[in-house]
Amino acid sequence: MEVVVARTRDELVRARAAMPGRVAVVMTMGALHEGHAALIRAARQAADSVLVTVFVNPLQFAPGEDLDRYPRTFDEDLQICEREGADVVFAPTEDVVYPQPALVRISAGPLGDVLEGAVRPGHFEGVLTVVCKLLQLTIPDVAVFGEKDAQQLALIKLMVRDLDLGVAILGVPTVREPDGLALSSRNRYLSADERLTALALSAALRAGVESAPDGPDAVLAAARGFLALVDGVDVDYVACVSEPEFADLAGSSYSGPARLLVAARVGATRLIDNVRVAIG
Ligand code: PAJ
Repeated sequence: MEVVVARTRDELVRARAAMPGRVAVVMTMGALHEGHAALIRAARQAADSVLVTVFVNPLQFAPGEDLDRYPRTFDEDLQICEREGADVVFAPTEDVVYPQPALVRISAGPLGDVLEGAVRPGHFEGVLTVVCKLLQLTIPDVAVFGEKDAQQLALIKLMVRDLDLGVAILGVPTVREPDGLALSSRNRYLSADERLTALALSAALRAGVESAPDGPDAVLAAARGFLALVDGVDVDYVACVSEPEFADLAGSSYSGPARLLVAARVGATRLIDNVRVAIG
């Protein structure tokens, strides 16, 4: 069946009303790749009908970030949605989502100010505000997000809990290239040389996981030691946090479920990646 495209709020209301059974939503900023496709497949497994949103949200970009050059590939995006069996694509323009400037926004709390939030002030306020709006507009039973953006996923779960939003949140493991590079819409900015250099992120995470029996500091030292040997990777942070609390584990004797995260710039492109690690 052909996917229905909704551009306006009225079109969305009509399309949403025609969706039978339990509805899953997959929110994206477009430039879809196999990572997004995996989310759509997980959504199909989790519900009877699937709605994909495609919207590059200006609120989550700081001045000087890549909002203007963020890749926009709507025709290809639509093909992927259709191939994966999405029922409705909501692709609004900025004035449909923000008919007036958003004066009231969702504060992300303490987890919004560390790691990605420390490097990108206001980013998670912008993410949570648009996710909350899109949940209100699409009224799903379940919303599907990638572990690729682990801090974003943790914050969305906190928002749903703390604000009683009454929607199930489903996390999907990160989809990678065969050589380990995590799929990202921003990978298309990388030159061939930079792409090779970018493999250092996932390799550093694997090095960290090898040290899991020796505790959080050994995991961090292994990942940081690996990155220190690689030219052309400008590291923003390497961190190890507990799950699901996302508490910083540096200097602790924690053992249990955790996540090792890295953010770095390769050339002009900023990349993030993370892996689950069972410490101890
Ligand atoms: P975007 O970067 O387009 O990502 C959309 C969804 O795809 C997110 O849940 C993200 O975690 C997931 N994703 C991206 N790469 C992935 C990969 N390699 N494997 C698995 N999942 C992957 O994240 C956003 O957009 C925005 O912040 C959004 C939530 C849409 C709010 O604007």
